[in-house]
Amino acid sequence: MVERSLVQATLQLPCSVVILSARADGKEGAMTACAMYVSQVPPLIAVSLSKTLATSKLIEKAREFAINVIAEGQLDLAQKFGSVHGQEVDKFKEFKVATEAASKIKAPLISGCFANIECKVKSSLWDVEGNHAIYVGEVVAFKMNEKSRPLVWLDNKYFRVGGECRL
Ligand SMILES: Cc1cc2nc3c(=O)[nH]c(=O)nc-3n(C[C@H](O)[C@H](O)[C@H](O)COP(=O)(O)O)c2cc1C
Repeated sequence: MVERSLVQATLQLPCSVVILSARADGKEGAMTACAMYVSQVPPLIAVSLSKTLATSKLIEKAREFAINVIAEGQLDLAQKFGSVHGQEVDKFKEFKVATEAASKIKAPLISGCFANIECKVKSSLWDVEGNHAIYVGEVVAFKMNEKSRPLVWLDNKYFRVGGECRL
């Protein structure tokens, strides 16, 4: 086995690639992140965010967010929303991103995604080591496009989802 620095361990878990979006006080923001399933009943999903990020601040205020699970053809969006900071630029305008209204929350939904999941913050853990906060969101609405496919993030690279494995 190849020796790697310990930080590399955090990159060896295949993760979802999502863009979290939020709206508070008339401001909208969005950032690339990984989301993790917590429970089915009730339907809960967790995200871990650096507290200094513009989108984290919006989620902290609004206590709700959308999880836009990007489709294969939206890789460029994941890169853009994950490398530019919302304090400096309005990413939706700058990247000419088509959005639509959510049904139960105020955050904008990104069009053309594999899935759009609307969440209300059910609980949060503010003092996570390393300046992160964890938000557990309860799913309040959801839609998906079964004709598209999501992406996986692993070892700092993006991968397509392959075929189903069966025993
Ligand atoms: C694939 C990918 C996954 C990311 N996952 C997270 C994450 O889970 N939590 C986090 O705090 N930042 C994550 N980031 C970094 C943020 O998306 C990035 O810092 C972003 O520019 C923050 O935007 P904002 O300041 O407008 O909120 C990720 C970036 C990429 C490219």
